[in-house]
Amino acid sequence: MRYDFDTPLDRRHTHSLKWDHCRDAFGVDDVIPMWVADMDFAAPPAVVEAVERRAAHGAYGYVSVPESFWQSAIDWLDRRHGWKVERPWLHRAPGVVPALSLCVNAFTEPGDGVVVQTPVYYPFFHAIERNDRRLVRNPLVADSGTFRMDLADLERIIDDRTRMLILCSPHNPVGRVWTTDELGALGEVCVRRNLVVLSDEIHMDLALPGHAHQPLAAMSPDLAARTVTCVAPSKTFNLAGLSMSLIVASNPELLARYERQFDASGLEIASLFGTVALEVAYRTGDDWLDQLRDYLAGNLEYLDQFIREHLPALRLVRPEGTYLALIDCRGLGMPQKELDEFFLKEARVYFDSGVWFGKEAAGHVRMNFACPRATLAEALRRIEGAVASRR
Ligand SMILES: Cc1ncc(COP(=O)(O)O)c(C=O)c1O
Repeated sequence: MRYDFDTPLDRRHTHSLKWDHCRDAFGVDDVIPMWVADMDFAAPPAVVEAVERRAAHGAYGYVSVPESFWQSAIDWLDRRHGWKVERPWLHRAPGVVPALSLCVNAFTEPGDGVVVQTPVYYPFFHAIERNDRRLVRNPLVADSGTFRMDLADLERIIDDRTRMLILCSPHNPVGRVWTTDELGALGEVCVRRNLVVLSDEIHMDLALPGHAHQPLAAMSPDLAARTVTCVAPSKTFNLAGLSMSLIVASNPELLARYERQFDASGLEIASLFGTVALEVAYRTGDDWLDQLRDYLAGNLEYLDQFIREHLPALRLVRPEGTYLALIDCRGLGMPQKELDEFFLKEARVYFDSGVWFGKEAAGHVRMNFACPRATLAEALRRIEGAVASRR
């Protein structure tokens, strides 16, 4: 079966954060939103049908999560990533963002240092600082149009109150699918310096063709013993509104500490539609996902070529995974605030501002290119026109 990613889906006025925010926050309704990370595609038809079938039943009471739910995740991680996960290693979370906070509270004490590799998904900062932990930055290094880790700096900034590193793998927003060599070298530092690693692998299924995701915890027994991994079908299948993600930890002590936080926060009851959707997506979504990745790769090619041919002041930081692309706009010569306003008010496209992720991404914007190609083309034409009318 071929799936249709080309036909635009009208998401305006559907309580979509992505699509309704510009109207609600800025009073404008004609902006193409390419910011928050959800896709302008319907979920796989089998998932939509399962949710519709369950919705038609009409009784939406408390959920009992079936064993088949967990088995679908175990099979998915094995089939897609060669990662052999066992049932006792698994737990739930209502989302990866809440899981980050639960883990910060489970594995560190107030005042402890938690390392992040900036520029990075900004809720990492909130999970640390809003829980009174110390944000320790290990900036990525810009190198030949991409980013790499700086492990010498990491060694230097770890002190005796640094307890945890939150890894973003694949990395949002720089789009790196870390290689096994890079992960091995990072892991070696974490083992030697005794850090717990919270590995946010929510984008794991979205490595672009030519790149392969490596689950950190699958690399060695030493790493498995100190790693808690977040995975979810939410980015992969566009299910973020259904509130369902998973925790994987083969170390029973770490999992027990997570579970204490989970129970203390009163999270035992799962989302009904999230439970239904995760299982069907993981059980049946391979073919849809393979076609989605090809479509996203096509969008990325289009974006790359358009920038080269029509927007010479911009540079694409070419992602290896995710459907998010950092675009270096320093060639336009605008400070970030002016740059963000230029895109919103003159180009009529809305991006995540680079500085939201850290000062390392100043002068950049993050574009979400998970949309029909016609929408991407229209956004790029708008940018080209706005840049031309500034000259
Ligand atoms: C790295 C990363 N973690 C977590 C999330 C959000 O997770 P959730 O919607 O499950 O809270 C995102 C969404 O963009 C993300 O990029």
